[in-house]
Amino acid sequence: MNKTPIIIDVDTGIDDAVSIVVALQSDKLDIRGITTVAGNQTIEKTTRNTLDIVEYFGRDDIPVAKGYSKPLVRDQIIAAYAHGESGLGTAKLPTAKKQPHDLDAVSFMKKTLEESNDKITLVPTGPLTNIAILLLSYPHIKDKIEKIVLMGGGAYEGNSTSTAEFNIFADPESANIVFSSGVKIVMCGLDVTMKAIVTYNEIKNIMATGTKAGEFCGEAFKFYYDMYKKGSRIDGCAVHDAVTMAYLIKPEIITAKPANVKIDIDGKNSYACTATDFRPWRDISKDNALVCLDIDREAFVDIILDACKNYK
Ligand code: BDR
Ligand code: CA
Repeated sequence: MNKTPIIIDVDTGIDDAVSIVVALQSDKLDIRGITTVAGNQTIEKTTRNTLDIVEYFGRDDIPVAKGYSKPLVRDQIIAAYAHGESGLGTAKLPTAKKQPHDLDAVSFMKKTLEESNDKITLVPTGPLTNIAILLLSYPHIKDKIEKIVLMGGGAYEGNSTSTAEFNIFADPESANIVFSSGVKIVMCGLDVTMKAIVTYNEIKNIMATGTKAGEFCGEAFKFYYDMYKKGSRIDGCAVHDAVTMAYLIKPEIITAKPANVKIDIDGKNSYACTATDFRPWRDISKDNALVCLDIDREAFVDIILDACKNYK
């Protein structure tokens, strides 16, 4: 079976961590590298978490390259309220010996894309700073990108504000560059990710697998679960970032519709909104994204559970 070559761009982050675990375990994905960006926590912490995860799960062979520490234009925000001081809630991992790659994230992506015989899919699950700078600095590289499957935005909802989702709100100007780049985008936004819920009992099942992966994900989920219970009053947590991997591994469990998505970078009440045009009479030649709207929740949870259960 041909594996899909991917580069994951993360702000690790509880759900980024689970998404990485799913990707590491999948026999359908060929991870050419992981790049880090500031978002849920500072760049030092998101990079540390990523190195620790990769080494803990025995995948030292995967390069981890450190990326941008600040958004392009706006002041930096982080999400310690959702991911804790470390970025991984109460989950603890041994400090990895592994060091970040000699190249920074953008140079690493450029080199990896240039040297690859196949086109590579980029999978960003944090603010889009690295991706925007890659596309701006090296426009020729677009030809080597198969598509961008990202977690961000929402056609019908926001979380950081009533109209803006965190990854887009943390760096809207970069998101604008990416969404207007002409590269095909699959947008796994809040419309679908708020349906990608792992319930309290399912978290217990994940822990009960007794594997390293199950125990790590289960522990990380605890902090996230408490945050969701207080904030959203749901009995579970939305595993936003892992929806990107579900899309790549089992696209048939996701419902999506093409649309034209524009990033609002100057609205007073709609700053960072992903303005999504589904109108049948829009100019469909301008569609730039496939917008995911629904997911078979149980099949999604099974992807996470199986990744944990089968962890070698
Ligand atoms: C997104 O924001 C981050 O806090 C999560 O890791 C996810 O990427 C959800 O809005
Ligand atoms: Ca994230």
